[in-house]
Amino acid sequence: MELNELKRRRLALISRMPRNSVAILSSANKNYRTKDVENPYRQNSDFLYITGLSEPNLINLIFKENEKINSILFRDNTSEYEMVWDGTRIDNDTVQKMYDFTEVHRYNDCKDKILDFIKNKDSLFIESGLNNELDSFIQEQISNSGKNNRKNFSFPNQIIALHSLTQNLRLIKSKYEIKLIKDAAKVSIKAHKEAMKKSKPGMYEYELDAEIKYIFNKNNMHYAYMSIVGSGNNACTLHYVKNESLLKDKDLVLIDAAAENQGYASDITRTFPVNGKFTKEQAEIYDIVLRSQEKAIEFIKPGVTWDEVHKVTVSEISKGLIELNLLTDKYEDVIKNESYKDFFMHKTGHWLGLDVHDVGEYENILFKPGMVITVEPGIYINYLNNNVDEKWKGIGIRIEDDVLVTENGSEVITLDLPKSRHEIESLCNQ
Ligand code: GLY
Ligand code: MN
Ligand code: MN
Repeated sequence: MELNELKRRRLALISRMPRNSVAILSSANKNYRTKDVENPYRQNSDFLYITGLSEPNLINLIFKENEKINSILFRDNTSEYEMVWDGTRIDNDTVQKMYDFTEVHRYNDCKDKILDFIKNKDSLFIESGLNNELDSFIQEQISNSGKNNRKNFSFPNQIIALHSLTQNLRLIKSKYEIKLIKDAAKVSIKAHKEAMKKSKPGMYEYELDAEIKYIFNKNNMHYAYMSIVGSGNNACTLHYVKNESLLKDKDLVLIDAAAENQGYASDITRTFPVNGKFTKEQAEIYDIVLRSQEKAIEFIKPGVTWDEVHKVTVSEISKGLIELNLLTDKYEDVIKNESYKDFFMHKTGHWLGLDVHDVGEYENILFKPGMVITVEPGIYINYLNNNVDEKWKGIGIRIEDDVLVTENGSEVITLDLPKSRHEIESLCNQ
């Protein structure tokens, strides 16, 4: 983690905090798959953003005093037990220098020290639910504060959710962050291409998932979210992650899978024919989704809102579905009654960053350079839909790219992954 980047983030956080306030951040706990079997550790995104550290059992306090930023870390050096079972971690002196903390204290001392640091501050920024012990301690202090039994001590009378600050900071990505997302995207692109090349009837969805994960792991990355490998009608289940079905000739397969790089996610979906050749109906639906996605991407530039982008995809998809007689109402009525939602029931995209569905509001926000978003319209014609001709049933298509808002418009981060039918067919047949 670059020190300048960390300093920039801390400064940005502090500059948004009111006078005489303090923020307390907690690391994520270890997470268990079963009894004592750990999942790979994933730091809380805000904590990672502000400290750069990816370890459990940490608390970070940050505040400004005499024009100087104080960033206090509570962390223990490796215990004898850990040395035997987990190995040695870097020591606190090194952590202090490498990550530019003003002070580092033993974790066990945190309660007393926290009280010292936050006494007589007006506001406290904190997120509950991460560290139960800290939550109870803070709660206790709030209850005690009314009792006025401590001389020269007052507990902050304003407790504010930390994410009200961090979500706005995290919305605009620095060059450093954009590079990490781009590197994640590169690996994801490689994985998607490999899946297209490997796919053939008779394989199972989990085999394609395995090819994808192999490429992530081989590049020292992890999946940013559970891969969706949905063939045939499975593609119409938006959060299908079982990935257990046989890939059948003439079916499509939708793959929504992407790598995470040092905490930063990419997020990509492609849909392609299992046997390398789109049928006529699949091609017709594919071209509507692609057109809507391309039009939405063309539309993206600073000053535009999510709502406007969504209107572009909705409009293109509605027109296309009306042309194919899948929607029989007039265009105006389809829009007014939202009947397109029978086939396109999710939003066009989301913020992308340390969280796949990254923090940030969606209403009344104008796009600005440095924001990273996904653009992912889809059409899903579930076999359970009784109002459509048989020939359409089981077609589920989504196309998802990652897009950086730039000064003059946008840059498609995932541009190197083909999406025209022709390019996809030729990749599938390699
Ligand atoms: N992969 C999650 C999403 O596309 O939103
Ligand atoms: Mn997405
Ligand atoms: Mn996705």
